[in-house]
Amino acid sequence: MINPIPQSRHILLGVSGGVAAYKACELVRGLTKAGHQVQVVMTTAATHFVGPATFQALSGRPVATDQWQPLAANGMDHIDLVRAADALVVAPASADCLGKAANGLGDDLLSTLVLARGAVPTVFAPAMNREMWANAAVQRNVQRLCEDGVRMAGPASGEQACGEVGEGRMIEPEHIMLELEALFQPKALAGRRVLITAGPTFEPWDAVRGLTNRSSGKMGWALARAAWEQGAEVTLVAGPTALPPPYGVRLLPVETALQMRAAVLAALPGVDALIAAAAVADWRPSQAHAGKLKKQPDQQPPVLQLDTNPDILAEIAARPDAPYCVGFAAEADDLLANAQAKRQRKGVPLLVGNLGPQTFGRDDNACVLVDAHGATELPRASKLELGRRIVSEIALRLPSCSKPHP
Ligand code: CTP
Repeated sequence: MINPIPQSRHILLGVSGGVAAYKACELVRGLTKAGHQVQVVMTTAATHFVGPATFQALSGRPVATDQWQPLAANGMDHIDLVRAADALVVAPASADCLGKAANGLGDDLLSTLVLARGAVPTVFAPAMNREMWANAAVQRNVQRLCEDGVRMAGPASGEQACGEVGEGRMIEPEHIMLELEALFQPKALAGRRVLITAGPTFEPWDAVRGLTNRSSGKMGWALARAAWEQGAEVTLVAGPTALPPPYGVRLLPVETALQMRAAVLAALPGVDALIAAAAVADWRPSQAHAGKLKKQPDQQPPVLQLDTNPDILAEIAARPDAPYCVGFAAEADDLLANAQAKRQRKGVPLLVGNLGPQTFGRDDNACVLVDAHGATELPRASKLELGRRIVSEIALRLPSCSKPHP
């Protein structure tokens, strides 16, 4: 089961020397706004980029910068600060900082505190010039830290402070917050591949009109995040939504049901679980006109002829090499009976039923999980919390030995 998430955590933030130190200010703001307590530790190099007073004002606590001028009377900041922490995040993590941590060196407050971290969950967000990042010694250090159980968040690619373009930018503060949250989730899907469909589909009638539905995609996004948090490699095939691309997930945007089917089939090899959360349009206009249909005076309204779309979930579930398939049922009434019937009709081992009209667009939901053994109610909660519950239930049901990935 998932760990309970405390309202407020003690986050120890190490800031090392790099231009991205200014982004660590935003991270402190985001963390404190989310209700967490943040203790900032800066290296001397970091203080050349941002003054400790800025971090002090944002965190509401004195900033520790020097092991020889400790915050605590016993002079043991490098032990006490990390012992009090629920998680340690180093952002930005410079090449020097990664090198010290990977090789067990401790010559300042941040490096000694990293050595003293024990079992405190730790994430590093590296930031440096692209050539520095590509350097074999840096990559060796990164590899070692990962083997030592440190979570490496990024770096991202893009324009760098030096004017060059490449891999080495620190990931955005909001994404570091997601990485931190992921530290507290079980890793029941490590090494698994999960394919998720989400959102509505849009079935064009002419160049400006079409058929769609009110699905916001939020449940599919929450499932994608929950599966990523639990260590899965996630592909999200999504119809048109207003949501930003989810972090850490491969997004394949599509428009129509036929495009969704094609994208799902192409992404299917090696997938362990398919979660079909999309509200796929059951029908599409038989003819999609290239231009805009014009209204003529005194003319009868046009007749819209429809064709039936393929049932993507039922088709995949019927394959002999089907992954573990999970369906969703958005019902208007009689939820349990409809969900049970739909599970059998679709030929899937697990189905999540919810009341569609009461959930579209909302950030929370309530649902019922239906499998061959019966039904389990999941009471109303945020879609993220429900996504975590559903993903945990799927992880429990996955066959322990999966097909080898191609
Ligand atoms: N689904 C799908 N392809 C379709 C229609 C539905 O893959 N063409 C999937 C959905 O993603 C969902 C499940 O099937 O996981 C049930 O979707 P829903 O729209 O509730 O079911 P329908 O089969 O369309 O049944 P209904 O008559 O209730 O609309």
